[in-house]
Amino acid sequence: MDKILVHGGPRLKGNVRVSGSKNSALPILAATLLTREPCIIHRVPDLSDVNFMQQILAKLGADVERASGVVQIRAEKIHTEAPYDIVRKMRASVCILGPLLGREKEATVSMPGGCVIGDRPIDLHLKGFEALGSAVRIQGGDVKLFASRLIGARINLRGKFGSTVLGTDNILMAAVLAEGTTVIDGAAEEPEVVDLANFLIKMGAKIEGAGTNRIVVEGVAELHGAEHTVIPDRIEAGTFLAAAALSGDDVTVTRLDPSHLTAVTDALLTAGHHLDIGSDSIRVRANGGGLPLELRTEPYPGFPTDMQAQFCALLATTKGVSTVTENVFPQRFMHLSEIKRMGAQVHLEGSTAIIRGIDQLSAAPVMASDLRASAALVLAGLQADGITEINRVYHIDRGYESIDDKLNNLGAQIERTKA
Ligand code: UD1
Repeated sequence: MDKILVHGGPRLKGNVRVSGSKNSALPILAATLLTREPCIIHRVPDLSDVNFMQQILAKLGADVERASGVVQIRAEKIHTEAPYDIVRKMRASVCILGPLLGREKEATVSMPGGCVIGDRPIDLHLKGFEALGSAVRIQGGDVKLFASRLIGARINLRGKFGSTVLGTDNILMAAVLAEGTTVIDGAAEEPEVVDLANFLIKMGAKIEGAGTNRIVVEGVAELHGAEHTVIPDRIEAGTFLAAAALSGDDVTVTRLDPSHLTAVTDALLTAGHHLDIGSDSIRVRANGGGLPLELRTEPYPGFPTDMQAQFCALLATTKGVSTVTENVFPQRFMHLSEIKRMGAQVHLEGSTAIIRGIDQLSAAPVMASDLRASAALVLAGLQADGITEINRVYHIDRGYESIDDKLNNLGAQIERTKA
């Protein structure tokens, strides 16, 4: 199992390019199941989660070819039962339910378990499928969906912690081939939902309102092949912006969409960092330690839960007392125990982390618990006094394309070793 060694100290300088969005690419790849015709998807990041999705599509019968960032898929004939051995490796596999149900009117996919960031239920997805006319059974650890026909319906996807991103994707992908009109209220407004909707529209779907909390879908009889380029990964971009703020001299993050990052750039501006926001790039000139923050994660356009851990790392060495409240996944704080091992002064009150900034973290062996937590540990390592050894780095490869190479190009010293 690989380890990452981060040498603390070097200041980051230069340009770094953002890859395509993981959270867009996954449902868009799943959506190619909705047509027998070939689809071509550009700017697909080379990540283990994306690789799992490609394997799932192939196991379902699709021809999948990848050449650098371009994936070509033809799902001429498919079956509807997803193999447990691959599906269980990635919670986001749940987003094949919608397209399988939409096209074949049946699907059998392993029920996702919990994960370190919380319980991760899919009740809202299932409620939506039922509203469209599908029967839903949980049997032998699988979710089984079957319908004689799907009929458009009014569905509210708002849950206790806001809407659901993959739930909105799933219902959208089933509703595009349902009979009649579906109205999704309480829809997730994330840019990744908009990207999926834009791809579905290219395939012939009739969708209005993506990006707002009400999406209206007029079902069509069939969809055709389409070509699409995935949007830039706003979380990868935000992670580089946070790295630049905590350990950068002058860093420009390129090939991003600044409009997707407003909550993150607002936080950095509030902390006193200098940002030059261009049309597809953001230059950060860090202001020494910066000022403490009071952050609250919220569904888009609020501050993303997927940036919470990285900002905890940033605030660990920001003078003063910061608070970070997690409203989307209230238990998502596993990274705190690890950065505490590096000397961070943090304690939890309910779902709020109280962080008292110190001058410098102390390098230590640490364990990555999930994708964004592992990015936070890399950021913590960049500013620690010595070499931070991060174990279980497979988490980081799920969602960051060559993060070590990209940071090294900015002057960091990060090595990968086999354990
Ligand atoms: C997606 C993202 C993930 C991000 C999350 C929130 C992908 C592949 N993953 O995950 O990176 O952290 O959005 O922005 O796009 N919930 C329910 N019932 C449900 C579904 C969700 O109660 O049926 C709750 C969840 O437990 C959580 C909240 O709703 O508290 C938001 O979860 P959701 O938006 O569904 O997350 P994902 O789509 O799984």
